[in-house]
Amino acid sequence: MLKIPEWTYDEMKQTGVDYSSIEQVQRYDDMHQRFRDYEKNSDAIIKLLELDSNSTVIDMGAGTGAFALHAAKQCRKVYAVDVSSAMLEHCRKKGEGMGLSNVLYCHGGFLTYEHEAEPADAMVSIAALHHLPDFWKLVALTRAAGMLKAGGQFFLFDIVFPSATEDMEGRLDAWVRSIAERSGHELAAEAKIHIREEYSTYDWVMEGLLERAGFEIESAEYGDGFQATYVCTRR
Ligand SMILES: C[S@@+](CC[C@H](N)C(=O)[O-])C[C@H]1O[C@@H](n2cnc3c(N)ncnc32)[C@H](O)[C@@H]1O
Repeated sequence: MLKIPEWTYDEMKQTGVDYSSIEQVQRYDDMHQRFRDYEKNSDAIIKLLELDSNSTVIDMGAGTGAFALHAAKQCRKVYAVDVSSAMLEHCRKKGEGMGLSNVLYCHGGFLTYEHEAEPADAMVSIAALHHLPDFWKLVALTRAAGMLKAGGQFFLFDIVFPSATEDMEGRLDAWVRSIAERSGHELAAEAKIHIREEYSTYDWVMEGLLERAGFEIESAEYGDGFQATYVCTRR
């Protein structure tokens, strides 16, 4: 049996917002759909990555299936991977309700999921990587690259902080306030937990990590509210 070193990071342990909580899972879609259109956003990613009915995709940190379940309508196979059994079960129920038979629900994460099938055409990961400290982000991204075929694509969306730290306090306050105004106080409370307890890193660190993990960064976009979107190709 494979011996896991005691110093290995336990990615099953929840950090920050507790996605193992049933209550959290149940209100997740309701909260997120106040500011996201799952279908529209997923279609844009599918178009950007030029995925089609021959494509296999891994959704790392799939959650309730915001991307995975829409991608499954257009792709050959989708691997929905998540460390939270509660999120994954919710995703499975939704997928079964939609009559999808090409989604594999995999309990695991960036550090533990073993992709035993053929290398995938693409990996999509939305708002999940910040759950790992930086040292483990590189391990995670290197493993992610290993799950993709050469030339395979990686779409990464996450909260990433800018290098320019001038008035960072004011910018963080403004971010939390704008979330409260747009999406309500529950989500603003999660943003505070995010800053305080989760592991969002700096833009220059993230770019360095992606390159060192074996990705070519095709585009890096930094939007309002510390949102970063990277489209990468596995070298
Ligand atoms: C903010 S939710 C995003 C879910 C989904 N991607 C979406 O777009 O709605 C973060 C998800 O990442 C998962 N997660 C946390 N740590 C992870 C890890 N190490 N590997 C994979 N997923 C992880 C959580 O369980 C949770 O479902």
